[in-house]
Amino acid sequence: MARDVIEVLNDLIQLDRDAIAAYDQAIEACEHAHTREMLARFRDDHGRHVVDLSAHVASLGGIPAQTRDLKGKLIEGFTAITSMGDQSALLAMRGNEELTNRQYQAALDETLTTEARAIVERNYGDEQRHLAWIKDALSRKVWEQAA
Ligand SMILES: [Fe+2]
Repeated sequence: MARDVIEVLNDLIQLDRDAIAAYDQAIEACEHAHTREMLARFRDDHGRHVVDLSAHVASLGGIPAQTRDLKGKLIEGFTAITSMGDQSALLAMRGNEELTNRQYQAALDETLTTEARAIVERNYGDEQRHLAWIKDALSRKVWEQAA
């Protein structure tokens, strides 16, 4: 049986909250100004995901997830190495974004309301953009360039 749409959206809210916490750590670890700026934008995208998903959960009569969950440990585990600077922060966030991309993609396989599907597709588009930028930044070694 398909999972309840509220449950699916609440799992994504927790995932996005995890991502915000991971970006906070990664931004702190980065020295390169443009990289920090881009990561801050990505963090803000995740913040918008929480707002949009929460509004729809509430409109369906559910209670939006307020906390992070066990997945948070996984993401923090990745980001524990970010004290080593821009490259390790980007490597950690690449791992995190691969995870968020997989989870958003999996959510699209669930039975969703029309509005929930639109939100999830929009957010998944952000996730694909985040991952593409991080991969490109790693291949260009942005931390070796002028800020
Ligand atoms: Fe992301």
